[in-house]
Amino acid sequence: MSDDSRPSPSATPSAARTAAVIPAAGRGVRLGPGAPKALRALGGTPMLIHAVRAMAASRAVSLVVVVAPPEGAAEVKSLLDAHALPERTDFLVVPGGQTRKESVKLGLDALPAGHDIVLVHDAARPLVPVDTVDAVIEAVREGAPAVVPALPLADTVKQVEPAGTPGEPEPVVATPDRARLRAVQTPQGFDRATLVRAHETVTGDVTDDAGMVEQLGLTVVAVPGHEEAFKVTRPLDLVLAEAVLARRRLNDGF
Ligand code: CTP
Ligand code: MG
Repeated sequence: MSDDSRPSPSATPSAARTAAVIPAAGRGVRLGPGAPKALRALGGTPMLIHAVRAMAASRAVSLVVVVAPPEGAAEVKSLLDAHALPERTDFLVVPGGQTRKESVKLGLDALPAGHDIVLVHDAARPLVPVDTVDAVIEAVREGAPAVVPALPLADTVKQVEPAGTPGEPEPVVATPDRARLRAVQTPQGFDRATLVRAHETVTGDVTDDAGMVEQLGLTVVAVPGHEEAFKVTRPLDLVLAEAVLARRRLNDGF
């Protein structure tokens, strides 16, 4: 995937300082009972640590702000102390909120001055490759106020009239043209001032930050995402994540 001829942000860390906010305060209800999702192990290491390392792998990222489960900030802090990050990367830990949007806002509030580009990355996407991170940063540097990594869909998507009772048949009302749809991942990248304004302006629940920038009337651009940036949501996703890690270890070993 890497293309050495492309001028990557990794090669120019001084151009604009980038911080990554990692919302990690969710419970992981869909994953089933257990510790908060970000603290569950993947290849023996907490998912959150993989996600932090994935951001710190980009030479452009000089600060990582982890938004921890409200009761788990001290535990997260000691986890980060125990797992070495590159020397160029600082980190901060703040307690999260009731929704993802609140958690991201708390992370943004903790950002010190001097970081003009902000990435927002789900702790639940521990395996995103550094090339994807760098591509997002690069597109922000080129002037986009908001950037999302996105992939074409494998499944056809139907719009339905949701049934009142789960499991009941639901009438299909439309079939959007799949060629024009994309599944959106993280890290999403932003001009910092734009993302702050979006969080101050937009009310109501949203599942991604770029959606709020769209609501400001600004253009959000999509760059190619990556299969390995999938979100660990349900138990089967953990099986896939372990398999991806095992394949990486095998490849690294030879
Ligand atoms: N998140 C957060 N604060 C919340 C809710 C979610 O920081 N109050 C974070 C999660 O920790 C995760 C990311 O937002 O890294 C994406 O959310 P999701 O995958 O939905 O995780 P959870 O909310 O933990 O999972 P579930 O919805 O199954 O409970
Ligand atoms: Mg959730």
